[in-house]
Order: sequence, then structure tokens, then C-alpha cells
Amino acid sequence: MSDRTPMRQLRRAARIPVLRMGLFGLAAALLLALPASGYGKSDASGSAKKDQLEVFSWWTGGGEAHGLAKLITIWNKSHPTVPFKNETVAGGAGSNAKAVLAQRLAAHKPPDSFQGHAGAELLDYIKAGQVEPIDFIYKKYGFNKIMPKQLISQITYKGHLYSVPVNIHRANILWFNPSVLKKAGIQGAPATWDAFIADLKLAKKANVIPLALAQDWTQKHLLETVMIATLGPSGWSSLWKKGGDWSSPKVTTALNRFKELLTYTNSDAQSLTWQDASKLVADGKAAFNVMGDWADGYFRIDLKKTPNKGYGWAAVPGTNGVYDWLSDSFTLPKGAPHRAAAVQWLGFLGSRKAQDTFMPVKAAIPARQDANAKLYDTYLKWALKQWKTDKLAGSLTHGVVASNAWNTDVDSALGLFVQSKNVAKFQSALVSAAKKRAG
Ligand code: GAL
Repeated sequence: MSDRTPMRQLRRAARIPVLRMGLFGLAAALLLALPASGYGKSDASGSAKKDQLEVFSWWTGGGEAHGLAKLITIWNKSHPTVPFKNETVAGGAGSNAKAVLAQRLAAHKPPDSFQGHAGAELLDYIKAGQVEPIDFIYKKYGFNKIMPKQLISQITYKGHLYSVPVNIHRANILWFNPSVLKKAGIQGAPATWDAFIADLKLAKKANVIPLALAQDWTQKHLLETVMIATLGPSGWSSLWKKGGDWSSPKVTTALNRFKELLTYTNSDAQSLTWQDASKLVADGKAAFNVMGDWADGYFRIDLKKTPNKGYGWAAVPGTNGVYDWLSDSFTLPKGAPHRAAAVQWLGFLGSRKAQDTFMPVKAAIPARQDANAKLYDTYLKWALKQWKTDKLAGSLTHGVVASNAWNTDVDSALGLFVQSKNVAKFQSALVSAAKKRAG
């Protein structure tokens, strides 16, 4: 990982989402996230507190909560004296959770373990001195031999390992409703940009929402896939290095394409969660949606849809052969109130049993390469194959290529763009953000 995010930026990154969610929202989220009696080994009366494991994530909604529940069940069974305390803050992609976490870390009230995406997002926590290196866990279990090298490099800083990845998600998936496509005269999933636009037109004619969209982070998620489609994986990765050319005509093309896509989306996007947008597709009210592969868990388990019948998928047009990847990984925060439990947890999380229990339900391929493929459903079998041959592109929205601070700058520019639709202004804001943040 490169060294690019000063602590100052992290603090700033923490502040801006707080403003975006509003003080009231933050207060409510903090109330949910902070136990009344505080942290540490003793409660208000000073007596010893029972051992437990406080794990912080944002997996509360459809699809993801079910997977986590399965994991909690096997944790509690195998660690009966250390019950799992599920500390979640609702909001897809950590849109609220990250702000709450930043407050807790600043107040030296960390959970025992928190979710941090492998890559630049994890680097923020490392550089702020908020997480411990965990080489000893890797040494004990040999995880680095069983996880992909590219992934290991994204959780290593100055020769030390800092988190345990539980999965690898894919962001660039175009989900669709096969019956809606058929009714609209669309011949399967489009593979090119021109075919995509032609299909969106057909869907519009058939009176369905051509492309279901949800709130802000999902718009950035869509944008990143359009950019990867337009620039290719190496053009995309060069944007995140010092001197990356954000003013290039290819970036302009990508932003214009994104602008065009927005004209095919639902007008209430801002008030919808990612699950709401997926449901529009499942219910036959929309033809397509671009979302990460956690949507497979939601379609299959929450909405009880059959793969390839109730829902279908393909790479986002123009990204066939590219895996826009991200990984949920868990950390050992400095000052974890139940450190020994947290160490056990990280060992558990890297195990085949934990990953093969959690991931078939949450819907991601496991970080371990020795998964039992039989346990994984239709979409995931496909993803397991694709991972082996695809080129990699790191996700922006989910913390691989850019720090929290850089992401926040992109969010602000994107928020303004969605209102103004001014591509030139948007691009120049992105150029400025890169100048400020690339390191
Ligand atoms: C991502 C996370 C996924 C999933 C998704 C939607 O950032 O890595 O595991 O939770 O957000 O909430």
C-alpha cells in the first residue's frame, strides 16, 4: 500500500459525512452504537464485566444481516464464554457507520474489531495509529499462504499485516429482470455501451424504470463502473497514482456517459437504499440495476428469487473480464476492550469454516482460495471462476483505491453534479481532488 493519507485528512473525512448525515442523525446513530455503561473491563459500579466480543459493521439490511447472523451463530457455539455483541450502524457501504466509527476511535472507545475495506481505507486507520499489526495471527494460521497475493498486498503496510479479509466482493455487476427484458424486447444483457443505451431505450418504451438507482453512494458505485468501462483497468488504476490524468478526454467521455445514464433512472433515487433499488428489479418495476454482488444474497435469500429466472446478471457493459473488487476485512483496534477475544475472532474469521458459512449467504467469494465451491450458489460459482481469470480494478466506493478523505471529495463533487449536470465543473472538481489527495 502506498503512504498517502495524513491524519489531518482522516479527521476531515470523518467530519464531512457527519455534516451530511446531520447532527440529529449522528446523535441517533451514536446512541445506537455506544452502550450506555461505556467500555472496558468494568461497568459503572466497578465490577468486572463479562467477557464478550464487540464487532462493529454496517451489516443490518437485507442480504447482509442474514450472512452475519449465520456467522454469529457459529461463533457463539464455538466460543460460549465470549458472546458476540453485534454493534452495527445501518447504512449501505458504511455510509453512516464510518462517521460513527471515526467518532469512537477519536474518543478512544474502539470496539473489539471493526470492518475496514482492504486498501486505502484500511491505510487511513493504520496511519492514524488506530489499529495494531497482526503478523502473529498470520504466523499462527498461515493465512497469507491461502489468500491471494494481490489482497495480501492491500492489507500490508511497511511489511506488517493489519487485518483479516473475510471475502472478495465484485462491484461491477449489471443485475436484471429476465422477464422484463423479454417483455421489452431486449435480447439478454448488453455487453457494450451502445447496446446498453439501446436496451435502456427499449425498457423506457415498455414503461418500466430502465435503470434502478438509489441514494448517493450507489451513484458513485455506478459512476466507478462506467469509468472502469471507459478507461479500462489500467487507465483506472493510473488515476489513483500521483500525476494521474483526471483531465483526459477519456474521463470526460466517462462523465458524459454517466450523465446520460442518469436520464434513465428513477427520480426518487436519493430516498432509496440499495435494497430498494434491487427490489425494483426483482418486482419487475425496473429492468436493470448496477450493484455489488451482495445483491445476489438479497435476491436469493431475502426475496427468494431463483438465479437466472427471477434475476440475472452480467458484467457492467464494457467491463467483461474485469473484476472491480473490494474486500471486507476486520481489524484489531488499539485499546480493544476485549483484546484476547478480538485475537480469537480474527483467527476464526480467517478460517475456512467461517468464510464458507458466511459467504454463501452474504454472497461474496471467500478471501481464502481453498473454499468448498459446492457450498456456493449459481452466481457465486460464476464469480469464483471469473476471479481466477479476470483483470483486477480496485473499487473507489468501497475503499480500495482512495482514502476516506479522497472519497469524501468525490462525494461532494458528485452531489453537486447530480444537481447541476455540469460535466466540465465535475471534472475540474475531480482534478482538484486528485491534486490534493494523491500521494
Ligand atoms: C460494501 C461492503 C459490502 C456490503 C456493501 C453494502 O461497502 O463491502 O460488504 O456491505 O457495502 O452495504
